[in-house]
Amino acid sequence: MAELQKGLEGVIAAETKVSSIIDSQLTYAGYDIDDLAQNAEFEEVIFLLWHYRLPNEAELKELKEKLFEYMTLNPRVYNHFKEYATGNVHPMTALRTSVSYIAHFDEHAEDEEESQTLERAIRIQAKIASLVTSYARVREGKEAVKPNKDLNYAGNFLYMLRGELPTDIEVEAFNKALVLHADHELNASTFTARCAVSSLSDMYSGIVAAVGSLKGPLHGGANERVMSMLSEVKSIDEVDAYIDEKIKNKEKIMGFGHRVYKDGDPRAKYLKEMSRKITAETGQSQLFDISVKIADKMKAEKGLIANVDFFSATVYHSMNIEHDLFTPIFAVSRTSGWIAHILEQYRDNRIMRPRAHYIGETDRTYEPIEKR
Ligand code: ACO
Repeated sequence: MAELQKGLEGVIAAETKVSSIIDSQLTYAGYDIDDLAQNAEFEEVIFLLWHYRLPNEAELKELKEKLFEYMTLNPRVYNHFKEYATGNVHPMTALRTSVSYIAHFDEHAEDEEESQTLERAIRIQAKIASLVTSYARVREGKEAVKPNKDLNYAGNFLYMLRGELPTDIEVEAFNKALVLHADHELNASTFTARCAVSSLSDMYSGIVAAVGSLKGPLHGGANERVMSMLSEVKSIDEVDAYIDEKIKNKEKIMGFGHRVYKDGDPRAKYLKEMSRKITAETGQSQLFDISVKIADKMKAEKGLIANVDFFSATVYHSMNIEHDLFTPIFAVSRTSGWIAHILEQYRDNRIMRPRAHYIGETDRTYEPIEKR
């Protein structure tokens, strides 16, 4: 049997045309992330990941219209939220449940025909934004907000969240964040999605599984915890002692390190610049300064570089977004990548079934309960 690679480090588990990380360069279907971050609308990226090419005008228009149409949820979903919004349900937990619930209203949920699969993909991509935003409102006793036809995906997310038209600058920044988080080769949640559907299970099941994986603090859940850390460090003078203590206790510092990138995450520079701008605009530059000092110290002390989650935290915080919505926002964007990988898995499937190296006891004999 092959040797164990803990955490599957270095193991090639799939072929993909969706995205690649080669020598710390991230590309989506051959387009450099720098190019896309500076020029693309999130809807174009969705199309790119699903079709391996950018859409023409008519295709983009059609995708946008369908996304808008499907953003409206069945009223029973809002009522469903009302039932559990009274407790202390984390939005990622609510999202995991509600993605599963919306499958109940999709009459084609089990239909394997290819045209239906793509339609289901658009449906899920549209509804995931409405699930996150409406849960955020319903738990505060507010009414959900219907999407606005004049806004793009990024704009509609902010509009449905707050019930007020976002500014152009906010839409541009949020669009960029969505583009930067859309896909990332075979990360834990994407691998989870591919595993789930490799049994030929349905797309909703793949997304539910992926949401569950993303939720963890070593993956998408890190961004929320970055903000908790920043709120514990009250001033720039406390950074050294705070980080030294964590390092001494062998605690993980959230927002640092990466399995694949060892010389830097190509997405982080955009989020850092966005963080610098938006914290300055909102009078919270101190948060940015503390973040930079933490990043410098982590590099110097541990050789660890800030990943995508580190500066995204201050960007969303400065947009007045609640901290427990940071990971759900990541999920909204990453759904596009999960779906791309699910579609790819369906096209060339073999069930995922690795082996385990057994290290437990052997040669035991059943003992009657009174003898144990
Ligand atoms: N803080 C402190 N030490 C760390 C950190 C960190 N953030 N990251 C790695 N290390 C340490 C490890 O403990 C390990 O130390 P050791 O050799 O003494 O045991 C060493 O650095 C090497 O770690 P890796 O093997 O490179 O880490 P791995 O690939 O297993 O894990 C991960 C990568 C999960 C991202 C890790 O760096 C981590 O836990 N980071 C914090 C959580 C985080 O920010 N997650 C978001 C990742 S990006 C994303 O999902 C979008």
